[in-house]
Amino acid sequence: MRKLTLDEIIKLRRSVRMYEGKKVDKEILKVIIEACRFAPSACNAQPWRFIVVSDKEKVKMIFEKTLGGVVLNDWAKTAPVYIVACAKKSFLVHKVGAGLKNIPYHFLDMGAAIEHILLKTTELGLGSCWIGWFNKKAIRNILHIPRNIDVVSLITIGYESQKFEPGQRERLSLEEILFLNKYGEPFSPKNYETEIRTSKK
Ligand SMILES: Cc1cc2nc3c(=O)[nH]c(=O)nc-3n(C[C@H](O)[C@H](O)[C@H](O)COP(=O)(O)O)c2cc1C
Repeated sequence: MRKLTLDEIIKLRRSVRMYEGKKVDKEILKVIIEACRFAPSACNAQPWRFIVVSDKEKVKMIFEKTLGGVVLNDWAKTAPVYIVACAKKSFLVHKVGAGLKNIPYHFLDMGAAIEHILLKTTELGLGSCWIGWFNKKAIRNILHIPRNIDVVSLITIGYESQKFEPGQRERLSLEEILFLNKYGEPFSPKNYETEIRTSKK
């Protein structure tokens, strides 16, 4: 089968919220996490640490104790595997640097790595969904995560159910998110041409 291009993968990826019972091979999970190792991170601190949870009892426990009761995430009971994305914060970058600049670098690092998970999963023909609404304390207890490690997100991984319908994809238009030289200034061909002409003078 032809390999998908990056553009195709980006456009194909959706949040998958219904999975088949089929088990996810351990090697596939390794390949998915391997993709995270190449994500960029502030000062190359690589704060990411991932816990793959595939044990049936633990998967059930995670759903019941950390997502259960939240209607928004009720769908997650069909997930065969969770990846728990944790961050080991570096003192210099994620505490001193982040404090000085008021920028939570470890969240940025983790976001980049998690996107790699989602894209790689899509490329391999599996589905995933990023979960940011969960009970941190409960997951910490279930998985024995030390105090100095932050739990940033959960990601479900599995084979998409054939019954799953992702719903309409709502996206802001390019005009709404892209500006030229100044916040709010449209990135229009006219503005761009004017800029080229002025810079040549
Ligand atoms: C930081 C973050 C947290 C999210 N948390 C949840 C969540 O708790 N439950 C859920 O069902 N989806 C969650 N999502 C998925 C978004 O709802 C989804 O990406 C968005 O609606 C766009 O749909 P798409 O992923 O299918 O393109 C989260 C996504 C991000 C980036």
